Amino acid sequence: MNLTEKELIKSDKENIWHPFTQMGDWVNDVPCEPLIIDRAKGNYLFDINGKKYLDGVSSLWVNNLGHGNPKIDKAVKKQLAKVSHTTFLGLTHKPAIELSQKLLEILPKHFKKVFYSDNGSTAVEVALKMAYQFWQFKGEERSSFLSLKNAYHGDTVGAISVGGTDLFHKRFKPLLFKAHFAPSPFCKKCSFRKNEIPFPNTAKTFDEHNKIAGCKGQCIAEAENILKRYAKGIAAAIIEPENQAAGGMIIMPPGYVSLYAKLCKKYNVLLIADEVATGFGRTGKMFAIEHSKIKPAFICLSKGITGGYMPLAATITTNEIYNAFLGKYEEFKTFFHGHSYTAYPLACATANAVIDIFKTGNILQKLQSKIAFLQKELQSLARHKKIGDIRQCGVMAGIDIVKDKNTPYDYKLKTGAKICARMRKDGIIIRNLGDTLVLFLPLTITKQEISKIIKSIVKNLD
Ligand SMILES: Cc1ncc(COP(=O)(O)O)c(C=O)c1O
Repeated sequence: MNLTEKELIKSDKENIWHPFTQMGDWVNDVPCEPLIIDRAKGNYLFDINGKKYLDGVSSLWVNNLGHGNPKIDKAVKKQLAKVSHTTFLGLTHKPAIELSQKLLEILPKHFKKVFYSDNGSTAVEVALKMAYQFWQFKGEERSSFLSLKNAYHGDTVGAISVGGTDLFHKRFKPLLFKAHFAPSPFCKKCSFRKNEIPFPNTAKTFDEHNKIAGCKGQCIAEAENILKRYAKGIAAAIIEPENQAAGGMIIMPPGYVSLYAKLCKKYNVLLIADEVATGFGRTGKMFAIEHSKIKPAFICLSKGITGGYMPLAATITTNEIYNAFLGKYEEFKTFFHGHSYTAYPLACATANAVIDIFKTGNILQKLQSKIAFLQKELQSLARHKKIGDIRQCGVMAGIDIVKDKNTPYDYKLKTGAKICARMRKDGIIIRNLGDTLVLFLPLTITKQEISKIIKSIVKNLD
């Protein structure tokens, strides 16, 4: 088929249902015409007419090392020449074996076993099911979970059961299993659209943060109240360490993650770190849990694991969890879970190349000055009259757009979406969550590119 741009758009509108998209708007070009991406190189996407766009959301938070990376391309081609896919049920293969070794090498040492799946939601489902089954083997029926308001862990029914973002999850409530929701560490005092807390927040500890925010840290106290009452029925607590990303880029106060983990230990509840978004360098460290040095029972990885080239996920756990599933065949302690594309060999080969690039390319070392530069740029942006709160962690940032320092926009105006649409004209692609502009920058971004994004935001605010 050799369709023109017009024909392609027409066909898309006729035949396709896009994710997280009001299709009524899409087919009517609201807030802008569909953009057809044709190819990509480095930090840039190119449309069908050859126009270049800076990929400021890392193609939905997955692409961390740039598009068309020659080392990754080579690894994919090499694996493609051998075998692109074979089942992982009853068979194994070299790329998955190598990858498990590499993952365990870069993760905290208490992690011992890698279970593969194929996207972030399934990585979470696996952890939830393993935690639930673990307690059954211990003779305890623990059928609920602890999560946080504003949490986002994916779109499958298990993942939305622990999802705390009403807009996405509330209507499915009758289908979901029981979860308790502690307040997000973003209470009325912490969440502000009036720059009540200066950017950057200079607090080093949770107490210091609370002093600045003028709150008493009720979020953690309420998490403890839930655990005090219900811990015996809670299989696991789940958290997106450091950043509740899809919930609004809610960067957690310093010390919060480690307090949450301490509570899980105190009340003997397993902890799941969902690092689907934060893993592989986004926070400035390889994994967000390194900031708080916590030791969760599970870590869920996806997105950046393959540099955004292939769908792959891994749920990594401890020997304690793994050993509980061992037994005679007839005891049926097997973990009955798997997908057609579990440990997809092409994706595992890609992930091996990605981890090698992190090591040999000094990616994290080079990143630090870019993070500091982004902070500086955001600091000056914070003074703009149409900017409310700004939150940053590593190369991730949430920028709240306001009518003026005291007044948010009416969400129905879709101001955030309109600004992103206007920024496309400047050759920049970012996305919004309501009136929060989201930056999820590739680790390969340059300082000039960061400046270009900020300039375009300023230009398009009015
Ligand atoms: C923290 C977190 N968990 C899970 C998911 C779900 O991942 P996927 O979209 O690959 O299913 C996401 C996706 O954005 C996420 O941010």
